[in-house]
Amino acid sequence: MKKKLIQHTSEHFEKILQKTPEYIFLSPGRINIIGEHIDYNDGFVMPAAINKYICFAISKNDTSECTLIAKDLNEAYKFDLNDDLKPIDKMWANYILGVLYQLKERGFAMNGFNIVFSSTIPMGAGLSSSAALECGIAYAMNTLFDLGLTKEEIALIGQKAEHTFAGVNCGIMDQFASVFGKKNSVIKLDCNTLDYEYYKADFKKYSLLLLDSNVKHTHLTSGYNVRRQEVEQGLAIIKQHFSEVKTFRDCSEKMVLELREKLGDTVFKRCHFVVKEIQRVLDATTALTQADFKKLGKLMSETHEGLSKEYEVSCDEIDFLVDAVQHEKSVLGSRMMGGGFGGCSINLVEKGSENELIERISQQYRNAFGIELKPYKIKISKGTTLYKN
Ligand code: GLA
Repeated sequence: MKKKLIQHTSEHFEKILQKTPEYIFLSPGRINIIGEHIDYNDGFVMPAAINKYICFAISKNDTSECTLIAKDLNEAYKFDLNDDLKPIDKMWANYILGVLYQLKERGFAMNGFNIVFSSTIPMGAGLSSSAALECGIAYAMNTLFDLGLTKEEIALIGQKAEHTFAGVNCGIMDQFASVFGKKNSVIKLDCNTLDYEYYKADFKKYSLLLLDSNVKHTHLTSGYNVRRQEVEQGLAIIKQHFSEVKTFRDCSEKMVLELREKLGDTVFKRCHFVVKEIQRVLDATTALTQADFKKLGKLMSETHEGLSKEYEVSCDEIDFLVDAVQHEKSVLGSRMMGGGFGGCSINLVEKGSENELIERISQQYRNAFGIELKPYKIKISKGTTLYKN
């Protein structure tokens, strides 16, 4: 699939631009085993890059003009790098413009380029196609124009582009996973310090299966930003009462329970989820190192319960998919993944049982919602990379 993607992208480049591209880059989507909605709450997360990519075919030109061609959408956008870069009405272009804006802001000199990109990361499925786009562009500019950026800077620039040109006040998890992904490894990322460790993604008899609800997360932007405000409000109240608390990392469940009345129902639920989830990731790390997959699966299912009932970022379709596998012997754990309001569930399932499971759940899902389920059997792969130059 990767080979085909590269071939189609470069052929399209040759067809439109009448020459072979100088560079090919691949930037992956991501999964997250556990640690949801806590990257912006000073927690830990456990993501990994996957074998679904955006492929970029690029050549520099000798002008200050840039041509962006989104092959899959059959759309293009031209602009001059010397112009003031602003968000436009093409969302896909904004991720790119947002990154270029950040680079210009930091004083980096770049020249014009032509780019064709194409993707195997489904959009709006919670697999971070936007982070892959942002990080792919930042990585490409870094290579083309010798900017000397570190991988961490590339991820942070991607995140800033998302805040400013896409309006999602996201954490760092997606961009970090896309850039730092490593084959067959999950990343345990400390979202407070950006320290990270790789853990072998060896699930022995089990594998990770994604079930895409095919519900696009259209409410993500508004829902996401509101959640951020709610937890900020919650943390401010907790700090007023416990001077030792600087971030949610210092906060215990007991403190949150004590402040239940003061926080009010909604903010209490959000904060309670956050402190529990921070602990769950630590427990999940232990479970993974001890190959205790029953425990890992249980923690994933608890995360879903919290995301659905307390953080309220799931939706009926995803809840259905998670409920539907609860009684399946071959499934150890299941939960919604990513920002929520649609997208995929991630399931820890016994190897060999996937096809039968997919068939059964697809049927039930079709009967309940009239929607076709899209299953993805994914592999854990390496992060953004230069494929050829
Ligand atoms: C989106 C954001 C991430 C993270 C997840 C939820 O994917 O981009 O920063 O907050 O939601 O865990």
